[in-house]
Amino acid sequence: MPIDLRSDTVTRPTPAMLDAMMSAKVGDDVFGEDPTINILEAMAARMFGMEAALYCPSGTMSNQIAIKCHTQPGDEVVCEKIAHVYVYEGGGIAFNSGSQARTLEGNLGRITAAQVSMVINPDDVHRARTSLVTLENTCNRGGGSCYDLEEIGKIRQVCSDNQLKLHLDGARLFNALVATGQSAPAYGRLFDSISVCLNKGLGCPIGSILIGPAAFIRHARRVRKVFGGGMRQAGFMAAAGVYALENHIDRLAHDHAHARRIASALEKKKFVRSIMPVETNIIIFEVEGDGCAKQLAQRLREKDILAIPISANQIRFVTHLDISAEMVDKVVSVIEQLN
Ligand SMILES: Cc1ncc(COP(=O)(O)O)c(C=O)c1O
Repeated sequence: MPIDLRSDTVTRPTPAMLDAMMSAKVGDDVFGEDPTINILEAMAARMFGMEAALYCPSGTMSNQIAIKCHTQPGDEVVCEKIAHVYVYEGGGIAFNSGSQARTLEGNLGRITAAQVSMVINPDDVHRARTSLVTLENTCNRGGGSCYDLEEIGKIRQVCSDNQLKLHLDGARLFNALVATGQSAPAYGRLFDSISVCLNKGLGCPIGSILIGPAAFIRHARRVRKVFGGGMRQAGFMAAAGVYALENHIDRLAHDHAHARRIASALEKKKFVRSIMPVETNIIIFEVEGDGCAKQLAQRLREKDILAIPISANQIRFVTHLDISAEMVDKVVSVIEQLN
């Protein structure tokens, strides 16, 4: 079995999660009759102290539904220049919502309130209407970096002062909560909507939850249907989500410790030019010489370690539920032997 560090999306359900899935009570969720989905949605809303939630097939769909609900065609969405919603969702901001992105260069994927306030367009017929700010926490391409809650509070204030909505792509928000000790309700108080993935560190085969006020979620439910995301007896999948929210959050700390161990082995290597600060379960490092990332990934593959070269000279490792301490020992020893 290779040690698969390409992404935290590669996990398979644990036997206990599979048991929970197999014994789920289900119904037709488009009729609102799937009891397990209803439990999952209520549970997620309660965790964040928000009114309602919507189970979606993927993080991409949750984010795109939120953007659709918060904007009108011709609007402008403010986000960081490597934000998933902008770079990795197939041009969805334009495709689904007819809106355009205004990108900012942040620090490891994080933007500031001062930056946001600089790019809000004036009320002028020549200009797009700025209507939405989206943040990402943790920031995938920022090496799993976490936001400071105080800075988010300032961004919230700028949004409120300028009638802008604030959405969080919280695909890995639980990683941030575990790493920083911040609380879910603190996020619920700051954002107009939050998407949280179940299919990444939490180890579910599928799913994301969009959380927000009741009226927003009613609108989102309609948009999900239009996007083709209305599911029927998906309670079998939602049961994995309920199980994960109950059992797989605290254990993310192990993934973070594993990432730090791998990073400290990398730090000693001459071929590593730099490593982004490791705050959670993602390690992004730069190797010496352009074009070397592919070669290094190949050498790792020969040792049964899978990683993604995310640019000519950068490699990404992601730790997760299916990476054990013994596997980390092996990764560390392979790194130690590499020149
Ligand atoms: C930060 C972030 N947001 C959203 C997504 C999209 O999730 P999905 O793959 O479920 O569509 C990802 C996926 O990797 C992600 O890293």
